[in-house]
Amino acid sequence: MAQIIDGNKVRDEIKEELKPRIARLAAQKRVPGLAVVLVGNNPASEVYVRNKVKTCQDLGMRSEKITPPESITTEELLAIVNQLNAREEVDGILVQLPLPKQVDTKRILLAVAPEKDVDGFHPYNVGCLVAALPAPRACTPAGVIQLLKRYQIPISGKRAVVVGRSDIVGKPAALLLLHEHATVTICHSKTPDLPGVCREADILVAAMGRPAMITGDYIRPGATVIDVGTNSLQTREEVARIFRNSSERLAAFDKRGSVLVGDVDPIDMAEKASAYTPVPGGVGPLTIAMLMVNTVESAERRLGVC
Ligand code: GUN
Repeated sequence: MAQIIDGNKVRDEIKEELKPRIARLAAQKRVPGLAVVLVGNNPASEVYVRNKVKTCQDLGMRSEKITPPESITTEELLAIVNQLNAREEVDGILVQLPLPKQVDTKRILLAVAPEKDVDGFHPYNVGCLVAALPAPRACTPAGVIQLLKRYQIPISGKRAVVVGRSDIVGKPAALLLLHEHATVTICHSKTPDLPGVCREADILVAAMGRPAMITGDYIRPGATVIDVGTNSLQTREEVARIFRNSSERLAAFDKRGSVLVGDVDPIDMAEKASAYTPVPGGVGPLTIAMLMVNTVESAERRLGVC
């Protein structure tokens, strides 16, 4: 029976570990503060941001949400970021992506003060990641490493294959695995014989945003599979095909009009992997937990306590 890697449990552990650190900061009148900028009305982004703000509240951290309209220009958004950079009580700044197409995302990410960049997206922090220097790490890839470590899944000397080369997940995940001494391959849509390369993996990280694309013939029996994908299935036919006519999933679809699935085939993964992250409840909860870690670390660093 494959082991299920429980992201909710690891998230709760990490939140518990943060509580005394937050209490120490609060005792010095320096409650950590996160500012989230949510442009427009992207429903998925709204859900993510709501959860980020709620987690701050759960932990007794300060949070604020800035919600400029979809029509905002690059210059206007730069002005918002610069104001947040200048505010003493703001320890972390997160500009929720994606941004509307008229906004120059690279300029915005470059404008966030690197010491407040709790997403780890600023090129300075990306450079620190490459050079293995301390700096905020991108939250989802950092969460992947936490899941592996806390489930005592060996990384050093193992073959890791990352499918997907995004700046947010694929590239930083590959670098973090490399720093843990895995032998790492990054694959993408132009990789020849993708199933064959994936079958070399002791640790397979799927992060390409294609629903259930990684089927059993991509998975070496006994591999650990980390599924970073969160895809919403919008048709009953897709739910029936991917979940093999599961009456439970079909009922969920009939009730809510959609069902979540990762980038890995959930049935094949449970049969072939030795350990795997479910969707939902695997990697997802770790993204917010690591954002909280980055915000607390930023507050500690700025106060000079670490
Ligand atoms: N959009 C999807 N994931 C992320 C994330 O981790 N950070 C930000 N800022 N935007 C996102």
